[in-house]
Amino acid sequence: MLCAIMTDIIEIAPPATTDRPPRWLARRDGALYGESVALSDIARTVGTPFYCYSASTLRQAYAELSEAIAPLGARVCFAVKANGNLSVLKEFAQLGCGMDIVSGGELTRALAAGVPASRIIFSGVGKTRAEIRQALAAGLHQINVESPAELEAVASVACEMGLRAPVALRVNPDVDAMTHAKITTARKDSKFGIAIDDIPALYAAASSRAELHMVGLAVHIGSQILDLSPFRDAWTVMAELVRDLRSRGLSVERLDLGGGLGIGDDVCDGPDLAEYAAIIKQTVAGLGCALNVEPGRWLVGRAGALVTEVLYVKDGAGVSIVVLDAAMNDLMRPALYDARHPALTVHDPRADADARPSLLVGPICESSDVFGKYRTLGQIQSGDLVVFDNAGAYGASMSSTYNSRDMVPEVLIDGEVFRLIRRRVDISDVLAHEQAGPWQNTTQAG
Ligand code: LLP
Repeated sequence: MLCAIMTDIIEIAPPATTDRPPRWLARRDGALYGESVALSDIARTVGTPFYCYSASTLRQAYAELSEAIAPLGARVCFAVKANGNLSVLKEFAQLGCGMDIVSGGELTRALAAGVPASRIIFSGVGKTRAEIRQALAAGLHQINVESPAELEAVASVACEMGLRAPVALRVNPDVDAMTHAKITTARKDSKFGIAIDDIPALYAAASSRAELHMVGLAVHIGSQILDLSPFRDAWTVMAELVRDLRSRGLSVERLDLGGGLGIGDDVCDGPDLAEYAAIIKQTVAGLGCALNVEPGRWLVGRAGALVTEVLYVKDGAGVSIVVLDAAMNDLMRPALYDARHPALTVHDPRADADARPSLLVGPICESSDVFGKYRTLGQIQSGDLVVFDNAGAYGASMSSTYNSRDMVPEVLIDGEVFRLIRRRVDISDVLAHEQAGPWQNTTQAG
């Protein structure tokens, strides 16, 4: 049912089409290009594996979404966690996009990219007092609070600073987003938000406090949502809640509708933007609230790819095992969520008399370091370049140096030019952070 999510990494059905690259990846003269740059040229320059992004696709995604929802009074805040690279954030910042952040680090990134504090929303289930202080000092648009205890922390920090904190309460509406269990966030048993039944009393009590400016409500039901009906369910519940709070004499100026809009792949199409906008219109646009959406994946997912080189090919049980130089530390999504990223070769696929599927794997010593089984790549040889598509969201941002591997570099393509936007972080960089400090004796402290 769900594209980009599979339940069994080995038994994946073959894609409906052999090669349906998105607009920015296209074949020319037997080679795969990103916009107007041959991916093999980038590989020669920066080495593999690397992420590359299409600037024009980023800009186009923002334009499409903001144009669809602006007539409804809704603004876009990019969820930085999906791809926090400074150059990517700058692309969106220049277009007037706001940001949704979940840590002090992401706040620093968003400000460094030139996003005004007044366009930044602070989400997340556990903000530290230091992060709350940082947010209030910067003058953020709003803090989405996820528990009564966190509300107390925000109030106490605001008191200390002599400020009034703009607060929205994140509601748990008990809606199943019908996506992968690890990225669904609004069922009753999930850790996120405040149970909907507890909201009216908490909102009323908070509204009477001078250090808090209760601006509204927030909801985020999950990620990679392809069937839009859970959005309708959640936002219908939110509209009822807004009316309920107002009937108690409470002011609700803003409604944050969360992120979660999914993207399609080579097997199925993604959701229809017009339908998404229509659901906003039908459920919440009439409330007179300032509306916000917080997409991450939808804005960056299709604009990025991971390019990797084939190290070795060996025989497996009914498959060719293709060992790549990219691994689960570079792209965690298959190992973590059973996600499937479409794979393409940079060369035109060769005829394959054998016709065994290719099992694409990384070199890490874990059985979960497997990208999936692909049937349409043709005959693969060592030295070939393979591209995982739809990897612009939660790819580089979730990468690590596990196994003391390099942190994968990132490249931005814009038309006929490209540039490195995160250099390779290698073992010497990592070891520089592991210089041991002096031994300390706690019994002598104080
Ligand atoms: N707002 C909040 C409060 C969130 O927690 C998230 C994502 C978003 C917005 C953006 O969601 P999006 O539009 O990107 O679906 N690592 C997982 C996805 C985790 C999403 C976490 N929250 C993956 O690779 O699929």
